[in-house]
Amino acid sequence: MEKIVLNDGNKIPVICFGSRIISYSRNSKRKMFFKVIKNLLTLKFKKIKEDFSILKIMEVMEEENDLSAIDTSRAYGISENLIGQKLKKDREKYFIITKISNTDQYNGNIKEALKDSLKRLNTDYVDLLLLHWPVTSKYIESWKKMEELKEEGLCKSIGVCNCNIHHLEEIKKNCKILPSVNEIECHPLFTQENLREYCKKNNIQVLAYTATARMDERLKNTVLVDIAKKYNKSLAQIILKWHIQIGNIPIFNTTNVKRYKLNIDIFDFELTNDEIKKINAININSRLRYDPDNCDFTRL
Ligand SMILES: NC(=O)c1ccc[n+]([C@@H]2O[C@H](COP(=O)([O-])OP(=O)(O)OC[C@H]3O[C@@H](n4cnc5c(N)ncnc54)[C@H](OP(=O)(O)O)[C@@H]3O)[C@@H](O)[C@H]2O)c1
Repeated sequence: MEKIVLNDGNKIPVICFGSRIISYSRNSKRKMFFKVIKNLLTLKFKKIKEDFSILKIMEVMEEENDLSAIDTSRAYGISENLIGQKLKKDREKYFIITKISNTDQYNGNIKEALKDSLKRLNTDYVDLLLLHWPVTSKYIESWKKMEELKEEGLCKSIGVCNCNIHHLEEIKKNCKILPSVNEIECHPLFTQENLREYCKKNNIQVLAYTATARMDERLKNTVLVDIAKKYNKSLAQIILKWHIQIGNIPIFNTTNVKRYKLNIDIFDFELTNDEIKKINAININSRLRYDPDNCDFTRL
């Protein structure tokens, strides 16, 4: 897998697998256990298979020796625990990203939170530690604590998620280290051109989440269809390639091993500049996720 050099010299793969387990997000391990039992009793085997699919996907990464970065979080249910099963051996092969949750920011438990994640992940460092949301009146203080964790070697790089330009300017004014990455919602329906331009100027790498716009129906009436036909690829593959060519690291999620393999099979063609411009023009400023300037951080 090709890599990009971050502003602190560390290298990150050009594509990232998002490991958010939708049905169990925010739930405790105990609640997760009862949900699995409930699914077993109600014969929802497909559901269980989907929820544990990250293990299969990590096997594919190893078999094909083609390792994407993996994005997880304390807020993603048992995702960290499942990844931790695989990290027991071959830790060095993987690029692991985890996050400091809003609850931990409110409690000021930044170091404790990372240590807990490291325990769940069976490792003594993460490659990239992110602040999940710029929690008003907390994020500068939290960022300063993350700077200390980088110095201690508990994380190789540090970055933020969901920061707009004004948040990044505040960090620039008040802190020592500029984030290495900003993980933001970005896809053809919501291209975030100004923010991406700002990040580029400041050497902050954009990680694009909800990268395929969850294959929103509206994508099917766009220029993506013709481009996909031309290259004999799927809409998802064209979108992921577009991200890479405009300088984003896309983060996509799938519970399906075949789709995982197809989604990363995008290194055998190049979109033309004209096609990239046409995909840029699909933008309708339609967010699918929360707006960091208009959301309740206590509920995320
Ligand atoms: N930092 C943050 O605040 C933040 C917020 C949201 C998300 N994220 C990260 O971003 C990751 C991805 O986000 P997301 O799940 O919202 O969006 P996404 O990856 O755009 O969409 C995932 C959905 O697309 C489907 N899909 C994937 N590949 C497909 C294909 N080739 N054809 C058809 N359908 C396909 C998947 O279904 P199947 O499972 O059936 O394939 C799944 O339902 C998360 O896992 C998380 O790591 C971060």
